[in-house]
Amino acid sequence: MAKNKNNQAIWNTRIKKKTSSIFQRVGSSINIDRRLYKEDIAGSVAHVEMLFKQKIISFKIKNKIVYGLEKIKKEIEKNKFDFSTKYEDIHMNIEKKLFLIIGDDAGYIHTARSRNDQVITDFKIWIKSATKEINNSIDKIIKSTLKIAEKNIETIMPGFTHLKNAQPISLGHYLMAYVEMFFRDKKRFINNLESLNESPLGVAAISGTSFNIDRNYTAKKLGFKNVTNNSIDTVSDRDFVLDFLYSVSVCSMHISRIAEELIIWNSDAYSLIHLSDKVVTGSSIMPQKKNPDLLEYIRGKTGSTFGNLFSMLTILKGLPLSYYKDMQDDKEIVFSSNDKLLDCLKILDDILKNIYPNKKKMYELANTGFITATDLADYLVKNHSMSFRRAYEKTAEIVNLADKKKKKLSELSIEELKKIEPNLTKDVLKVFDLKNSVNSKKSYGGTSFENIKRMIMKYKKII
Ligand code: ARG
Repeated sequence: MAKNKNNQAIWNTRIKKKTSSIFQRVGSSINIDRRLYKEDIAGSVAHVEMLFKQKIISFKIKNKIVYGLEKIKKEIEKNKFDFSTKYEDIHMNIEKKLFLIIGDDAGYIHTARSRNDQVITDFKIWIKSATKEINNSIDKIIKSTLKIAEKNIETIMPGFTHLKNAQPISLGHYLMAYVEMFFRDKKRFINNLESLNESPLGVAAISGTSFNIDRNYTAKKLGFKNVTNNSIDTVSDRDFVLDFLYSVSVCSMHISRIAEELIIWNSDAYSLIHLSDKVVTGSSIMPQKKNPDLLEYIRGKTGSTFGNLFSMLTILKGLPLSYYKDMQDDKEIVFSSNDKLLDCLKILDDILKNIYPNKKKMYELANTGFITATDLADYLVKNHSMSFRRAYEKTAEIVNLADKKKKKLSELSIEELKKIEPNLTKDVLKVFDLKNSVNSKKSYGGTSFENIKRMIMKYKKII
């Protein structure tokens, strides 16, 4: 390309007037998609190698292009590359620069491809590695959670439903619930790899190409497992973006739930946990305050992550096939969700390492609200041959009595209990013991200490 053309858009032969300056500013995505430079260069190298193998370009031109691309990569990595909004996006910035480095032979690089397949190729490769990084961060969270769970197998706390005391549980069991959730998150991200592993490269703008290309060759070179099937669908498809945004949203939602829970537990009303000074902030006016700002931050970020998913769904909902400029926003949305999730995972990991359960308070709270009432009902079914409904009624009567006398269930005497169920013996009193209650839940997945130990072992082996 002649020197004087270097400041002009690639399509200047056809379009004679300069794009409106406001559109040049807002329509350019270079400040966002420059993050794709590595993937873009890898895609271009694979593409020209394939073009050479298929005898579409010569050995010399292929080498020149590869040399130029490597040089560009180094410049970018050394922060010496001058990204310009004039050339809209990463693909054109690189192509323009290639002309400057190797001259007119750069013009062969765009044979048998379009930015439409180029951008999806870059983006899929990027999301694949982002997926790996996220899963590594989730692994760290799982490890930290397993560590606290292991230390708290015998820490008894109230299990809540409707935020009212339901049944006693172990804190370890509670934490293992989050391990399950984070494992599902990992699985969700891994499931996305199936479509991420289909290479879009070679479908060109919309219809495929008349050049004798080898799509499987570029797919292999770039680490894809196979190729997409339909050229029109390929350039229109952003389902893989939605899958990623949805997976990030679900993982953020899990983080938000644990954050919300820990905020409640940390409140003065509950005082079930203590947060070290590393993970709290102060108030500018109230000197006594230690606020769980970090937890609030990660809960809050979930809102914009959900927003990102909805933005993308909305962008796509009215789009006819195939490529439209509307889609360009997909990168900003994905980068934003990705970055927020990685930050939130790191923050959560920090918090998990700086959390101290108030075991005494947990036990005391678990010992209120007639929390072992269901244990009593179960006891009546097992030992006094009652149906569960009958036992439920009897137990409710006993709870009413305790409530009236302002006593805990365990404070009722056997004589008082016998007034409601004459067949009861002293043996019943053991069901009011919290530890006994927790350990009696031996059904698979239940809160007994043995079950928790087994689960911790299982997950320690997997991770
Ligand atoms: N920067 C564009 C995007 O991210 C690349 C694809 C452009 N294709 C086009 N025909 N304008 O969407």
